[in-house]
Amino acid sequence: MCSWPRPWIAAAWLLACTAQAQVPQPFPGIGRPATPREVAAWDIDVRPDFKGLVPGSGSVAAGMALWEARCASCHGVFGESNEMASPLAGGTTAKDLETGRVARLKDPAFPSRSTLMKVSTLSTLWDYIRRAMPWTTPKSLTPDEVYAVTAYLLNLGGIVPDDFTLSDRHMAQVQAQLPNRNGTTTAHGLWPGRGLGNGGKPDVQAVACMKDCVKEPRVISALPEFARNSHGNLAEQNRRFGAQRGADTAGPPPPSLAASAAAAASSPSTR
Ligand code: HEC
Repeated sequence: MCSWPRPWIAAAWLLACTAQAQVPQPFPGIGRPATPREVAAWDIDVRPDFKGLVPGSGSVAAGMALWEARCASCHGVFGESNEMASPLAGGTTAKDLETGRVARLKDPAFPSRSTLMKVSTLSTLWDYIRRAMPWTTPKSLTPDEVYAVTAYLLNLGGIVPDDFTLSDRHMAQVQAQLPNRNGTTTAHGLWPGRGLGNGGKPDVQAVACMKDCVKEPRVISALPEFARNSHGNLAEQNRRFGAQRGADTAGPPPPSLAASAAAAASSPSTR
């Protein structure tokens, strides 16, 4: 990059390369500054205001063909499969498109959660598909292909019509129709819970142990017995088929977990 350039840009070269040389080197001789193209390859996030979105377009029809070739094996032809992941489509209604809040998220008789039920920003869907899917070959889709499969998924949810073409210029319009676009809240302890009216403090507080501390904390994944059923029986809240199954929390824990659960209930580190 800093080989001798043509004379007419010599001055600019001198300036750029001197500036580069002045960047502090915390570990001299190790590594090098990332090139602009390397940074560009990583810097692919799309924000809710669509900053970072790559121009392009794809139709529902093109998306359907791509879906069958690249997505259906894991997510089902209609995005309904729960064999590999939670269903991508399903559970949303025409009414939700009007209200922007998916009513079934509050319906205990409808325990499953599809992506279209939950997602409240279209940028997240587009960004996730672009960076992470297909699962086995992430980042292999072109921007136009990402628009196309996103259009098909939106069409499965009745959000866009069959003859729709999604492009960077349509993203804001479609965002305004997402079924759960108004479903986010800050009335909880995360990020950092301003909606709770507590001045934005998190709802957990870690106090460093200074005395009689456990030397080797034991990592366990069992629920303490008192918490097992605090959200109702998990087994009854999940589909009885496919990958989503919940533990039967109605009764006491199985003997294999009982010891860990008791330890969790009495351990000072989990209180
Ligand atoms: C080889 C299997 C496989 C293929 C093919 C595949 N996916 Fe996925 N997909 C997954 C798995 C597994 C997850 C869950 C990943 C996780 O939670 O970390 C997932 C998650 C997703 C999600 C997020 C779901 C959510 O609510 O969190 C979307 C959207 C998605 N896939 C879209 C696609 C699209 C579009 C294609 C085709 C271009 C595709 N996937 C192809 C396996 C696959």
